[in-house]
Amino acid sequence: MTTVITIASGKGGVGKSSLAINYALRLQAIAGNTLLVDADLLAANVHILLGHKPKKDLISVLDGECRITDAIQDTTGALSVLPGRTGASVKVEKDGDPLRDLIPQLRDTMDGTKFVVVDAPAGSGRSVLNSMANSDHVVIVLLGQATSFVDAYALIKNAYLEYRITQFNVVVNIADSKSQAQLVFDNFARTVANFLPVSLSYSGHVTQRDAIAQSAIRCKPIVQLPGEQRQIADFDTMLKNILASPRNSAKAADTTVNSVS
Ligand SMILES: Nc1ncnc2c1ncn2[C@@H]1O[C@H](COP(=O)(O)OP(=O)(O)OP(=O)(O)O)[C@@H](O)[C@H]1O
Ligand SMILES: [Mg+2]
Repeated sequence: MTTVITIASGKGGVGKSSLAINYALRLQAIAGNTLLVDADLLAANVHILLGHKPKKDLISVLDGECRITDAIQDTTGALSVLPGRTGASVKVEKDGDPLRDLIPQLRDTMDGTKFVVVDAPAGSGRSVLNSMANSDHVVIVLLGQATSFVDAYALIKNAYLEYRITQFNVVVNIADSKSQAQLVFDNFARTVANFLPVSLSYSGHVTQRDAIAQSAIRCKPIVQLPGEQRQIADFDTMLKNILASPRNSAKAADTTVNSVS
């Protein structure tokens, strides 16, 4: 059985791609058979951060040039990646989702794949919500900033109202310390609990690290850099927490509340 994890946030630039790449590399290293999907159709950058030059990509699939399986490529650390395309222009109908069937198709065709990690775009658009609804675990990346709180809250609210998603994991990124991250989560969880009948699980935090910012410049994920055992252990603990959290029981296709077909 394939376990699908979507990394989303509401607000942009909070570290989704960075986390998705490092989680996927750790899952590949520990369990093997892991696929990382760059679902950010308009601002794909996973391939850049991995220093990979794709031959085919998700746009090729959407354009009918190849099958999904033909666009999946081996990259660094033997990680399989379904990349996006830099500077792609994709026509998206209002409320439409070109990737609506992507996760169900991956589940059908990628038999031996143990884990699929989806790097979602920013915002709470239809494709983000569909991806969340089709996932076993949803991870919300949160910063200790008002704008991040507001956008993460809006995403969770839309996911609940439109798809009845009730289980969310939260990772606090760019934290000052463990205790500050816990405080950020506690504040956010309290706000959410006041208004929405959903359950948030705290998965852990990543501190603000020059090495992470540098790894994006060098196109080398931090879990592949020497001397990062501590960071690797922290990512592994987060992953363990995420995989041990209750599974999302929503299914995009089954949804009747305000969903597009
Ligand atoms: N813990 C961290 N410490 C320092 N820098 C970080 C950390 N996490 C992410 N960054 C940096 O923040 C920037 C944004 O990260 P990233 O591209 O992963 O965010 P994103 O949420 O995927 O953005 P977008 O919404 O545009 O897709 C990058 O330069 C990245 O290196
Ligand atoms: Mg990104």
